[in-house]
Amino acid sequence: NKKGYPHFMLKEIHEQPEVVNKGIARYMKDSQIYFGEEFEKIDFSKIDNIVIVACGTAYHAGLQGAYFLKKLAGIKVDVEVASEFRYSDPFINEKTLAIFISQSGETLDTLMAMKLSKELGATTLAITNVLGSTISREADIVLYTMAGPEISVASTKAYTAQVALMYMFAMYMGIKNKKISIEEYNEYMRTIAEFSDRIEVALENKEKIHELAKKIKDCRNGFYIGRGIDEKIAREGSLKMKEITYIHSEAIAAGELKHGTIALIEPGTLVVVVATQKDMIEKMVSNIKEIKARGGYVIAITKENYSQVLEVADETIFIEDINDMLAPLLTVMPLQLLAYYTAVEKGLDVDKPRNLAKSVTVE
Ligand code: M6R
Repeated sequence: NKKGYPHFMLKEIHEQPEVVNKGIARYMKDSQIYFGEEFEKIDFSKIDNIVIVACGTAYHAGLQGAYFLKKLAGIKVDVEVASEFRYSDPFINEKTLAIFISQSGETLDTLMAMKLSKELGATTLAITNVLGSTISREADIVLYTMAGPEISVASTKAYTAQVALMYMFAMYMGIKNKKISIEEYNEYMRTIAEFSDRIEVALENKEKIHELAKKIKDCRNGFYIGRGIDEKIAREGSLKMKEITYIHSEAIAAGELKHGTIALIEPGTLVVVVATQKDMIEKMVSNIKEIKARGGYVIAITKENYSQVLEVADETIFIEDINDMLAPLLTVMPLQLLAYYTAVEKGLDVDKPRNLAKSVTVE
């Protein structure tokens, strides 16, 4: 049931405020993060390394999760693509916590990576959306994203739920490792608790984004750039665009532009710029100028207080002025909507793009 929306993807995009609320509520007890009895049994004193393994959009959620763990808990995490994992002689042993993120819980590459990790002695933690899925049954411990059924092949609400859960996990570890104080923890919890309202506001941009989609629908190529955590979200935006619009798109770290990719920028080339991080905003403005000097067409996503971006980009979409670490949770909204409306304008089958399946159960 599309509940009046023309496509499941748009319905699922609009469910994100509620999904974040539900996801947080599921793992709160007496105003504290509580992941349940099984989780509490993990002996973190014996864990000395964490690896996150996933595919596609879930992999991008893993990249966000690793960033949170580094920032909030001072933990370095390796994030691996599941299809590469088994063939990469992974450093896994009984001191490893191996986290597997999968919306469906059926992705075979992710499942096989989990089996190998178990054989090598790791503690396995699954983050999945589907109760009783294979990955949830095989894992030592499971956390559920509670996003409800996701029908559209392009993942939207599951991603947001995964990122929100990774944020909670990082906070939990931050407190455990004494990397964040109780005051900071309370402050971060307050921010996330208000998050659903902020997502609603981010979704209000949809008319403007629809107009932008009409302008870019005939592009053959596009680039997505960002720095730091924005580069990770650029990857997700690019994947969303290519899988449902068939526009070839590539995400790169903005600083890498001049090491090759800038050769491809010519008049009219689409470049989506994600620029939300305070300490890198001037560098991003320089990148936009470099692209503009070659005639590129820049759509920038930035925070409402960065007027310097507005001055140089062709089009600017603003998100609220949220703390830098959580900006990706808002930035992804316009990126999802841009891909969605571009596919609609192209008259494509948004919910069932060609050649793709909702869950990939072959290697
Ligand atoms: O069910 P999973 O989360 O394991 O699926 C992983 C990927 O196949 C999935 O995220 C895919 O990249 C989506 N179509 C992206 O929108």
